[in-house]
Amino acid sequence: MKPIGPMMWEHRLIEKMLRMFDGEIIKINENNKVDTVFIDTAVDFIKTYADRTHHGKEEDILFRDLAKKKLSPEHARIVNELIEEHKYARKIVGSLVAAKERYLTGGDTSQEVIGYLKELARFYPHHIEKEDKHFFFPCMDYFTSEEQDAMLLEFYEFDRKMIHEKYKKVVEGLKA
Ligand SMILES: [Fe+2]
Ligand SMILES: [Fe+2]
Repeated sequence: MKPIGPMMWEHRLIEKMLRMFDGEIIKINENNKVDTVFIDTAVDFIKTYADRTHHGKEEDILFRDLAKKKLSPEHARIVNELIEEHKYARKIVGSLVAAKERYLTGGDTSQEVIGYLKELARFYPHHIEKEDKHFFFPCMDYFTSEEQDAMLLEFYEFDRKMIHEKYKKVVEGLKA
């Protein structure tokens, strides 16, 4: 299997989560109430799974190895765009968390929360499509099959460490 296989499966789960945002937006509008447990769950999913686990493998392994290759100008441009888009997603998630925190302390931020949910649901599918349809397959051509096998193993090792990293953080957060 090519290393982009698991990356594309991860995209499918991210899309499933994002599709739930529409229903949540309707609920917030109907009840004029934010379900902060849903927001916490969605934020945890995006931070731990979409960002740390998925973007982490892209940035720390795939893009790192691509940086050692002589990329076409188009592929070099796409890598830079993807890195900027990851940063943008982190910014929106940070804003969503801040809006939810203000909601919890009595702020009327439900429309702000909706705005950030809408933006994430709009932004991610474009990002994923760019990777799936215009980047992942052609960028595999820069690697030999041995390099692809090594990358897949490194992806697995990266994933293996994630659960430990995640729950170490949970415990440290509770202690703090
Ligand atoms: Fe990405
Ligand atoms: Fe991705």
